[in-house]
Amino acid sequence: MALARSIYLDHSATTPTDPRVVEVMLPYFTQHFGNPVSVHQFGRQAESAIETARERIGQVLNCLPSEVIFTSGASESNNLALRGSMRAGDQRPVLTTRVEHHAVSRTAAEIGEVEWLPVDSWGRASVEDVERTPSARLVSLMYANNEVGTIHDLAGFAEAAHEIGAYFHTDAVQAGGQLPLDVNALGVDMLSLSAHKFYGPKGVGLLYARKGVELHAIQTGGSHERGLRAGTHNTPLIVGMALALELATTEYEFRVKQLAARRDELIDGVLSRIPDVRLTGHPTERLPSHASFVIDGAESNTLLMHLDLLGVAASSGSACKTGNPEPSDVLLAMGYTPTEALTGLRLTVGLSTTQADIEYAVDALVRTVEKVRKVRDRMVIA
Ligand SMILES: Cc1ncc(COP(=O)(O)O)c(C=O)c1O
Repeated sequence: MALARSIYLDHSATTPTDPRVVEVMLPYFTQHFGNPVSVHQFGRQAESAIETARERIGQVLNCLPSEVIFTSGASESNNLALRGSMRAGDQRPVLTTRVEHHAVSRTAAEIGEVEWLPVDSWGRASVEDVERTPSARLVSLMYANNEVGTIHDLAGFAEAAHEIGAYFHTDAVQAGGQLPLDVNALGVDMLSLSAHKFYGPKGVGLLYARKGVELHAIQTGGSHERGLRAGTHNTPLIVGMALALELATTEYEFRVKQLAARRDELIDGVLSRIPDVRLTGHPTERLPSHASFVIDGAESNTLLMHLDLLGVAASSGSACKTGNPEPSDVLLAMGYTPTEALTGLRLTVGLSTTQADIEYAVDALVRTVEKVRKVRDRMVIA
């Protein structure tokens, strides 16, 4: 049965690739397919495309082209930043939070030398806690949270990290295309991005690493990317990422305004029409695309299934393993109870989201929550 509507409100998970980006990538699959390390003309063509992409990205990030390391995405970039800078091994810990994406938090936990910074009820760490730490090799703090949308004002944290002799890394994945990315203004030493979060292709990303940052390769082999990341470059994806980042920059104001308008309609609709719902994350310092809630008495994985049947695609922070969901680590770290942390729902708008989409999605959520709560009430009575 075809669904009446199909509304994608999961842009924090991934975005569709911009057709302009697809178009610019195509010749690099079939015509300019050479291996960029080959010395012949086919190789040189591909190498030139990669170096042009690096320069264009350098302009957007306000850094040297040589400070851009191409990777397969932000999971790899985060691993390179953490493992690659901690491998120098002087016993000083990495300082991070439990609200980071697992590509940071699980990596830090596995490294072992880790200290966890507390976060407040919006998911924000405090500069004072960084300043109070006697020493660290690396401070890693996300620019914007993927689950609750809260933004960190990075410059103060970068300064505090430098004061305690640490490098400062940020996972800027959710900020890509939605927040300023000038690495000098942000004061960061390293920054991770994934192209598919800003209308670029999946499977490609980058790590910006300031000149002079001591990094060790975590993937060895050929001497690609100044010996920091072995493996044949994915030329089409790199070319596509550069254009996607440029478009996100040139269209920045228009995009942010449009996203924020849809997000606000969504938040207002949900909070005004559904009782016992709370917005999670910061009320104003949040991503323009991002709405997230805890909904009393409505486990999010159940909601997701019902919403999907109504044609609305959303997501939750609780990992659902074989029908036995686990509460979101992020919400737990922010002080929510395990029961509340099972009800975290994320709805993230995109450039093609319309006002009519929001109206439909809010209606669908109202109906779904009523239905799920009714079932809960019946079970409680029985
Ligand atoms: C904040 C954050 N960091 C890292 C990642 C990992 O990105 P990728 O899966 O593209 O490697 C994600 C993906 O959702 C994310 O939201």
